Formats: sequence, C-alpha cells, structure tokens
Amino acid sequence: MTQSVFRAQLLTFTGDPAQSPDAAQFHEDGVVIVEDGQVAASGAWSALKERVSDGAQVHDMRDKLIVPGFIDTHIHYPQTDMIASPAPGLLPWLDTYTFPTERGFENEAIAQDTAQFFVDELLKSGTTTALVYCTVHKQSADALFTASEAKNLRMVAGKVLMDRHCPEFLRDTPQTGYDDSAELIGRWHNKGRQMYALTPRFAPTSTEAQLEACEALAKAHGDIFIQSHVAENLDEVKWVKELFPRQRSYLDVYDRYGLLRRRAVYGHCIWLDDEDRQRMAETGAVAAHCPTSNLFLGSGLFDFDKANESQMPVTLATDVGGGTSFSMLQTMNEAHKVARMGGHHLTATRMFWLATAGAAQALDLADKIGTLAPQSEADFVVLDPKATPLLARRTARAESLEELLFAFALLGDDRAVFETYAAGARVHSRESA
Ligand code: GUN
Ligand code: ZN
Repeated sequence: MTQSVFRAQLLTFTGDPAQSPDAAQFHEDGVVIVEDGQVAASGAWSALKERVSDGAQVHDMRDKLIVPGFIDTHIHYPQTDMIASPAPGLLPWLDTYTFPTERGFENEAIAQDTAQFFVDELLKSGTTTALVYCTVHKQSADALFTASEAKNLRMVAGKVLMDRHCPEFLRDTPQTGYDDSAELIGRWHNKGRQMYALTPRFAPTSTEAQLEACEALAKAHGDIFIQSHVAENLDEVKWVKELFPRQRSYLDVYDRYGLLRRRAVYGHCIWLDDEDRQRMAETGAVAAHCPTSNLFLGSGLFDFDKANESQMPVTLATDVGGGTSFSMLQTMNEAHKVARMGGHHLTATRMFWLATAGAAQALDLADKIGTLAPQSEADFVVLDPKATPLLARRTARAESLEELLFAFALLGDDRAVFETYAAGARVHSRESA
C-alpha cells in the first residue's frame, strides 16, 4: 500500500476546547500518515516513525503547521464575482447586485467558469468542505458539483428555491423546484464525496406551497442537508412577521415545515430569541455565524454567550459574497471581534475547532472530516507561520499554542496557506499557484 507521509507540527481535536482543556491535541514534531486517501495514523513522530513504510517519501514540513481542512458552512458561489458590492443593508444589496448577478447562471458556461474559479479559491484559503448555495437554475448546481468532483472534495450544495418576491427571471414554482431538487438529489447526493442540500433561499422568497414541497423532500430524504437564512437583518425579520403572521417567530416558519433537524444549517441567527435558540438546540439545527458579512452589511452582532447558554450548535462561515473574504482565518479574525463587542472572549483554539472538528460534528460528518483521526478522509491544510514578514516576527514570539493560533487567525489569510490536501491528494500549492 502506498503511503504519503507528512512530518510537521500538528493540531487536531478530540472535543470542544471550551469544554475540556485537553481537547486540542498539538504535536511539535508530529506526523500524518495517509493511505488510500485516508488518515492511517497521526500523532507524535517519535511514536509513529516505525509505521512509516520502507521507501515511503517523507515530506519534511517541520517548520509548518498541519490542521484539518477548514469547513465553511455557508457560502454562495454565484456571488464570487460580486463580492465587495456596496449597499445600505441586506435587502437593497439583494435587489441591486445579487439577483441581477444570479441571473447569469442560466448560462452554463458562466456557471462552469465561476464554479471552477470558486473551488480553486476555496482551496487556496484551505477550505476543503463548504455548504454552497447555487442559483435557482439546476445547471448551476451541476456545474458546482462537477467542479468539486473533479478535485474529489467533500462538498455540500444545492439549487436555490425561490417562487416569490424576487425577479420573474429567478423564479421556480413549487412543482419545478421540487422536481429539480429531486433530480439533483438523485444525481449528486452521496455520489463520491458530493452531498445535497435542500436550499430554500429564505422564508420571504418561498410561498407556503413551496415550503410544503421542501417539507416533503426533507421527509423523503432523511440524510440530505437543508440550508437557509434566518434572522439576519431587522428589516427582514419585520417582513417575515408580515408574511407569516401565524408563526411565533422567523425561525418558527421553518419549524412549521419540518425544516429544523440535524444537518439543517441556518445562516446568521442574529435576531433569534431564547425560545428559538432552545428549538435549535433541541432539534440539532446548526447556526452558521458569518461575521465578515454581518459587519459588512451592518446586519448585527451574533450573541456568543446566548448561543453557548442554549447549547445550540454553532459554526463559522464566510457568506461570500455578502461576506468579504473566502478565508476562514479572516472569518476567525472578525468572529473574535464580534464576540469582543458582546463582552465574550472567543479563543483562537476554539475558533480553529469551530472551523474544523466542531463544524464536522455539527454537520453530522465527524466520522469523515474535521480531524486527523485514523480513518478520517485526509483533508488537511499546511499553514506557514512565516507566510509574511509580520506573521514570521509575531509567530516567532508565540509562547503558547493559543498565541500561535491567534496570530494565524488575526494576521492570516490565503497567504498563510502553504498547501491544501483533499483525500490525501494535493489540491493547492501556494508556490505553484
Ligand atoms: N438572505 C437571502 N438571500 C441572501 C443572500 O444571498 N445573502 C445573504 N447574506 N443573506 C440572504
Ligand atoms: Zn447567505
């Protein structure tokens, strides 16, 4: 059996570092041994060097840090080219930039070209798994899955469902949305490493009939993902109240249609109340906190203390193109500051967990990704502490793992990503990019 062997500093997790001080496992001189695209073993070099086969090539990266591949739990690939488009808040931003841009994805060539660039941009940032919104056009989802499959990435994506309150040219119907989603589930869900996410954009753009169609699809396919937006912006919350006067809250609309469960991931979750958070925790639905987007669009500040109290699952996400960076390191940077604004100290160690093992656990994928544990799919990132002169000077003074990770989170971006591996294969190299 061919082995690939990576000798480096290593970080992996056995649990949430906020719950248990030993959950972050760091090896100053560590090794990851990969066989058949999976981690065969990882840990201290001194303990594992005997497992290295004769003749196996050992990649010596002792000046670098290997961490599990980053997981971005909420991102829109069709918004790649409109990232950094200025608008006074969410709803005008959707009308002015987002919907016109998404119209282009009826054209297969645009979808394919953007999907390829998008996937490369993820890998350049060290993101090996993402939950991706496509457009309303089913060919946009085919383009994304095709680009991801070509690199053998574990990717979750879905065609957007929208049958009202958007331009005519982006509308499906309850029936076509159902049929297209069912067809895409059949074609892509669990095909290799691809997985499907049922994707009603948000409550305002779906009729009750469309939400009922979602309920039926979710029931028929218990292991698919569900993704949507909730409680992002106060104008949006007010609008949902007018559209669904019988529901107790915005989140309750999704609850009403059976869309709160494990593997259901809701972007933003800023304006939830305690009862909503309780429901998220009870059902296992996951919050995707998108700090760069929330600050950029002025949506609000995610409440880490309330999230922790309720024990609802929380993950980190970029929300490109509402988000302003593909980098999960930059996302950590802003997550830390959002938490600070709420008087909460979010450690870098916990942010690395949230972006890797914590996300995998929340998404019910912990047996496959998120750590360097044996039998995991070998998705990992090689980070360079000397990526920039400033990072080199700061990391040289780091006196603890937390300080090292904090420097990466606050100062790092795609320049800090030396290489990215998916299922044991190198899918990005900074030097040859
Ligand atoms: N709410 C509905 N659609 C979107 C979107 O594309 N981005 C963000 N940030 N929020 C949304
Ligand atoms: Zn979004």
